[in-house]
Amino acid sequence: MAFFGLFKKAPLPPADLSVVRVDMHSHFIPGIDDGAKNTGESLEMLEEMYELGYRKVITTPHIMSDGYKNTPEIINKGLEKLRKAVKEAGINIEVDAAAEYYFDYDFEKSIAKKDKLTFGNNYLLWEMSFMNKPDNINQVIFEMLTQGYKPILAHVERYPFWHNDYSVYEDLASRGTLLQLNINSIAGQYGGPTKKAAEWLIDHDMISFLGTDCHHMGHLETLQKALIEPSMHKLLASGKLLNNTL
Ligand SMILES: [Fe+2]
Repeated sequence: MAFFGLFKKAPLPPADLSVVRVDMHSHFIPGIDDGAKNTGESLEMLEEMYELGYRKVITTPHIMSDGYKNTPEIINKGLEKLRKAVKEAGINIEVDAAAEYYFDYDFEKSIAKKDKLTFGNNYLLWEMSFMNKPDNINQVIFEMLTQGYKPILAHVERYPFWHNDYSVYEDLASRGTLLQLNINSIAGQYGGPTKKAAEWLIDHDMISFLGTDCHHMGHLETLQKALIEPSMHKLLASGKLLNNTL
């Protein structure tokens, strides 16, 4: 056994997230979704984000008609309060906000209103049900593009209905939605099939944005496990990530 031990690869050093610089998927505005419960929790997480190398976060509260009925007004009010608290606490991180839009009937019907919270180059972060695959995904991507948005599908690797057919990822990308990956999928937080899908997407250079999708401190603790994974190093070296353009 000692013989095989000689060939065991040395563990990789933790990947350096300062090259990502900007996180574009998280839930730091307190009390408006399933993320931070209070300002203290938000500040604790933002302090840790700074320690990890991030210098800007674009936080993305859920907007879903059956759950978190957030509006641009609610989110912007929360952002203003959070920015003030961050400044008072002396944390040197820029905080901005957009939203994570849940693909439901109301979302689809309201795309033409052009009232969506976006970031960067008119990027719109959207997600869908993990349980039931909507049958009009292509239509909704087309509608977003028609209205001038650049859609980014949140945590593309986490949808179980695509785990047996990775060719769908290529189809989605060809239809014009960019793809975002959660760091903790690489850590195995969401299970083996999700980790495998994440690795496939990285191997095929399909990921444009990397997100923490941080809701609580536990997510940032788990993230440490992802940093030593070969796929994490590969993704950061791919030159494909657009986070630092934000
Ligand atoms: Fe999220």
